[in-house]
Amino acid sequence: MRSLVFLLLVALASAKVYERCEWARVLKAHGMDGYYGNSLADWVCLSKWESSWTTTSTNHNTDGSTDYGIFQINSRWWCEDGLTPRSKNACNINCTDLLTNDVGVAITCAKRVVRDPNGIKAWVAWRSHCENRDLSEYLAGCGL
Ligand SMILES: *[C@@H]1O[C@H](CO)[C@@H](O)[C@H](O)[C@H]1NC(C)=O
Repeated sequence: MRSLVFLLLVALASAKVYERCEWARVLKAHGMDGYYGNSLADWVCLSKWESSWTTTSTNHNTDGSTDYGIFQINSRWWCEDGLTPRSKNACNINCTDLLTNDVGVAITCAKRVVRDPNGIKAWVAWRSHCENRDLSEYLAGCGL
């Protein structure tokens, strides 16, 4: 009984932390390999440094906005959390939809972000940890 309750709580909390190659495969299945000129390794690298591949990750910013989910997508421009003044909601979603294990929503929104003129540079973690680096380690051994 105790373990049943435990399992139930785990299911409810449903924080999914992806393993590197597992996440790379999910990204590839959603058409992210080469999307707008960005390699699969770019996406694996940026999400590692943004969220450590954790779907429930949130971080508050000094401007009052919050970054949500595995890509740390910002509520100022991309999603609505009802807390961020003058937010734009360009992905047309509730920010909490970026925290679920249905990662298709977050991936679709990340595609919207990268179609903007700034492209993948929108992600600070990409600039500081992935840009101009050898990213082969991010796909090493994944068979992709
Ligand atoms: C987003 O969804 C959550 C959970 O379903 C809900 O509580 C919240 O009111 C919604 N927020 C907005 C801004 O729609």
